[in-house]
Amino acid sequence: MPLDGTNKPKVVVTRDLGPDVMPLLTKRDDIEVVLWADDSVCDRQWLLENVKGATGMVVVFSELVDAELLDAAGPSLKVVSTMSVGYEHIHVPELVKRNIRIGYTPDVLTDAVADISVMLALMAGRNARETMGIVREGLWPRSIWAPFAFCGPQLSTSGNSASRTVGFLGFGRISQATLKRLIPFGVTDCIYSSNPNSPSASKKERDEAILKQYSPQLKSLRGVDTDTVARESDVLFVLTPGGPSTRHLVNEEFLRKMKEHSVIVNAGRGTVVESDALAKALREKWIWGAGIDVVEGEPNVGKDHPLVKEPRCNILPHIGSASFETRLAMATLAVDNCLAAIGGQNMPAELDV
Ligand code: DGY
Repeated sequence: MPLDGTNKPKVVVTRDLGPDVMPLLTKRDDIEVVLWADDSVCDRQWLLENVKGATGMVVVFSELVDAELLDAAGPSLKVVSTMSVGYEHIHVPELVKRNIRIGYTPDVLTDAVADISVMLALMAGRNARETMGIVREGLWPRSIWAPFAFCGPQLSTSGNSASRTVGFLGFGRISQATLKRLIPFGVTDCIYSSNPNSPSASKKERDEAILKQYSPQLKSLRGVDTDTVARESDVLFVLTPGGPSTRHLVNEEFLRKMKEHSVIVNAGRGTVVESDALAKALREKWIWGAGIDVVEGEPNVGKDHPLVKEPRCNILPHIGSASFETRLAMATLAVDNCLAAIGGQNMPAELDV
């Protein structure tokens, strides 16, 4: 549809994208912007009412984009642009059926999430939650320094610690960026299990390039099955997309195979790790600790949640991409995607469906 101001396409935006990005939409007189301006999760009823007749939507991952919403929007809807790399909240086949394009925000958040993944690994291994709790509760004066108090497994392999195998569930951009950060920690062995549908020839080529890039530090990089990832990882990063094919990939059976001193990090999607099983694994000490940025059912994770009760579970409220730089880039890309699709152009980052 031409952006000539005569027939203004409506764009529904489910979160205020801030003073640097909103003007990209609001300053244009050839579109009508309808914004959920409240600083809270967009009300579903409001959305169902306001999406009627929209041409584009800019959403965040807390909005379920399903048949009900698409029906409410009607045939005018051309694009759903999400300010996220994950798209578990979007019922992709429903959009494909209706010829609605999907924009998302890959790449721009890779570094921020890789940074926080390493932080979570360190926090989980070195008992950050328990020990910070001691200070916060005013118990430091009573917790005398002792030679082996509060010790945990070391991430780096310098000094006299044994070598560490780092494992990944999913080996996409964020996993590779995480590995890159771990090379200076002395990691020599890396295993991963990833999407069985991506061609093995291209994986082989990619792995050879990675090995070459980190030579001689990185000695081995192997694609393996999930059982091997569970059994051999000292530090396991869950960075695989969510959705039905990865739901509860990390369950009781998986966790029972892990090493006693291993730590698990989840900065991917909460649905991949079964919360009750992880809480049990921590409680019964099958593994050492966990660092998680995502939890199934979030944001409904209150004080009574089984994982919140576990002292060795370091939990962040889904802030993996929350750096100023990254969120600005994500919001800008989400708007650019939406505007490009409305103008019938190539989107800077369109989901290949
Ligand atoms: C994403 O982009 O999918 C993240 O989980 C949100 O920061």
